[in-house]
Amino acid sequence: MSVSPLAPSWLQHPADANALPSSVWSQNAERSASGEIEIAGLGATEIAARFGTPVYVIDEADVRERARGIRASFDREFGRVGSSAKVYYAGKAFLSIQVAAWMIADGLNIDVCSGGELAVALAAGADPARLGLHGNNKSLAEIDRAVEVGLGAIVIDSLVEIERVADAAARHTRVQSVRLRVNSGVHAHTHEYLATAREDQKFGIPLADVADAVARIRSHASLEFLGLHSHIGSQIFETDGFAEAARRLFAVHVELLADGPVPELNLGGGFGIAYNSADVALPIDVLAANLADSVAQLAAEFGVPVPVIAIEPGRSIVGPSTTTLYTVGTIKDVLVEGADVRKYVSVDGGMSDNIRPALYAADYSVRIANRASDADSALVRLAGKHCESGDIVVHADYLPGDVQPGDLVGVPATGAYGWAMASNYNYLGRAPVVAVRDGASRVIVRGETEEDLLSRDAGLEQN
Ligand SMILES: Cc1ncc(COP(=O)(O)O)c(C=O)c1O
Repeated sequence: MSVSPLAPSWLQHPADANALPSSVWSQNAERSASGEIEIAGLGATEIAARFGTPVYVIDEADVRERARGIRASFDREFGRVGSSAKVYYAGKAFLSIQVAAWMIADGLNIDVCSGGELAVALAAGADPARLGLHGNNKSLAEIDRAVEVGLGAIVIDSLVEIERVADAAARHTRVQSVRLRVNSGVHAHTHEYLATAREDQKFGIPLADVADAVARIRSHASLEFLGLHSHIGSQIFETDGFAEAARRLFAVHVELLADGPVPELNLGGGFGIAYNSADVALPIDVLAANLADSVAQLAAEFGVPVPVIAIEPGRSIVGPSTTTLYTVGTIKDVLVEGADVRKYVSVDGGMSDNIRPALYAADYSVRIANRASDADSALVRLAGKHCESGDIVVHADYLPGDVQPGDLVGVPATGAYGWAMASNYNYLGRAPVVAVRDGASRVIVRGETEEDLLSRDAGLEQN
């Protein structure tokens, strides 16, 4: 075993470069007797042969258990403090008709942030009353459709939207339930959170303007005010940022109670997951217990009832469930001046199926999927096939040094914001999503063909 001087400080040299740490891989991923990775009883080789690569493989039992687990934890913990919780699956993380149907069947609501996402949730047969819509610039058409179908909640994000939603509701002779998104000044990312008077970002309205905005909402007979909404960031591993946001919102929430009901408080999503062996996610039941204690303590301090808490997790439900399988095409040992050799392993996908490493410098991990190997491990960089030097899938991990063209590799924890942010850059077709369960597989979103890629091009001018 050799530790490369090029390895980032967070990357530990694995005792076994074939191991699949359970913190990162989906529950039903394991190595079979032959050494290949199996997901829910289906071997990587068979999956690749049937569906090609790249392919997103979603472990159905895993994602559904996480959905039910989050719901159960929040139900239990907020029940313990005399209230209840509403869990909205944040569809932006990954929405397909099948996934939406699983979430609904498993007792979650769904948060959508565009007319397109709303269409998917409706196509899944979701009761509109269990859907929420948010977004900082909803079109009039999106607002109108949401009101017309009877959406459970619309998150108002700016003052101008109050009248837009009120008018749409009046036109459809409905009373529309709304939340108000607040810019709490709390921003959290991984282990750090920043609390300022006001955060420099596009979402929500400042806390200082909330009282007037809610008075305006309450002045419309076509609107019903549900409560405040905040979302403080993503990949959050501690409760502190949520607790601080709750504290800031609560002070205003209590003032609003003086003039009418405020039944709910929405604390958004952003719960962190492990993408690599260095990440340690906060267990959901611990997070739920901490949040319930914080909110109950605030309610006691202010002498008001504990509100119904709404949360909107996306990544923590769908992220860990999915593995992307790629085929290795080329390998280059690149001598890095004064350091060591970095092995560039290039695969048949890249930033078009997972933009997060390029967009957020996200660090994923990788394993050879078609076989196990006891070769000495080598530091690798998993690169995509796009014409961009920043097209990296995994910046750094150790793989058995005999990794070779034709091997399959698996990158775990790609379920959130992978397919959802996929593009056709360089005219690569978007990869299929295959659900696996108990040894059976089903394509839940088919991959794009060359015909799909050409189908929207108007072609040559006809004379
Ligand atoms: C308003 C809102 N709710 C929920 C989420 C889901 O966040 P996550 O997938 O990190 O849980 C987001 C993501 O950015 C969001 O903007």
